[in-house]
Amino acid sequence: MSRRRIAKLRDTLAEKGLDAFVVSSLNNIRYLTGFSGSHAVCVIRPDDAIFVTDPRYRMQSKMEVRGWRRMVALKDLFEFIGQRKLLAGAHRIGFESRFLTYAQYRILRRHTTGTSFVPTTDIVESISLIKETEEVELIRSAVSISDQVFHELLAIIRPGVTELDIAAEISYRQRRKGAEKDAFEPIVASGEHGALPHARASTRHIRNGEMLTLDFGCTVRGYNSDITRTLAIGKTRFRKLYNLVRHAQQDAIDSAKGGMWAKDLDAVARVRFKKMGVGKYFNHSLGHGLGLQLHERPKISALSSERLSPGSVITIEPGLYIPGEGGVRIEDDVLLTANGCEVLSTSPKDLITL
Ligand code: GLY
Ligand code: MN
Repeated sequence: MSRRRIAKLRDTLAEKGLDAFVVSSLNNIRYLTGFSGSHAVCVIRPDDAIFVTDPRYRMQSKMEVRGWRRMVALKDLFEFIGQRKLLAGAHRIGFESRFLTYAQYRILRRHTTGTSFVPTTDIVESISLIKETEEVELIRSAVSISDQVFHELLAIIRPGVTELDIAAEISYRQRRKGAEKDAFEPIVASGEHGALPHARASTRHIRNGEMLTLDFGCTVRGYNSDITRTLAIGKTRFRKLYNLVRHAQQDAIDSAKGGMWAKDLDAVARVRFKKMGVGKYFNHSLGHGLGLQLHERPKISALSSERLSPGSVITIEPGLYIPGEGGVRIEDDVLLTANGCEVLSTSPKDLITL
């Protein structure tokens, strides 16, 4: 697995004229090496691939890391790279500009002369854009856990429980089913909180007549799920709004396929909203790539300039948010194919009233 990824990375580095590359994003290190710990740096060169971690991870990295020469540093990992001259002789050294800190850069700089450091973005991310079968299977496992938990929540949610009660149940139940962690803090937003796309769960008690938005996900061997469902607690005046989001989301699913422009998919989801004069209430992008990172490429937004690739997993999550009143969002995780997409999440989407 990692050999294929390393070979692709070396091809990219050669195209960019880089004769060394420092990987400091832990997600990217995990993708390239299999290492799941919290502290490591990699240096890749045409004829060497070195993984550096600290003594806490000596055993773990021995078990996990494949295809890399492992080293264990008793000091700062970047000082170690410098002192061991792991970058010696390189003329153009690429680094991940979004992940290498300025302090780390200064350490590397101090240990090299006559070298240019080249800021890069998305080198490993471009390789991981198209998921391998085993990656899709891990996302499926994570999605399946979240789907099962959603189903269980239906028996727990009733007027009087707090948003935090529900958030705690989500976290606990996902873990009981084998998730290593939440993919992010569960969003549980009732009543007017639903108007905030990223509301935090609070001590607010849910009440009859309100909508309740649940947005949560979990992580299985590094890979994430991310689903959203909105429920009615008793009789609701938001049914029309709900159905509008439900249909807009389906429009996007029906059009999604590899090869299309991301911004065109974003636009599809907005057609109904504009027609009904509520376009301004959908105030975020349609979705995002999903994998080792919760939010990764491709971004599905009006500002995106990339095409969707078959083999990418993305979220499709339109919503409408009425300030001071409430909101509705529905989110699925889908695998793009050459002809369409496969929806991985299976939680029901017709309005559920509890
Ligand atoms: N589900 C959280 C997000 O996509 O931002
Ligand atoms: Mn999402």
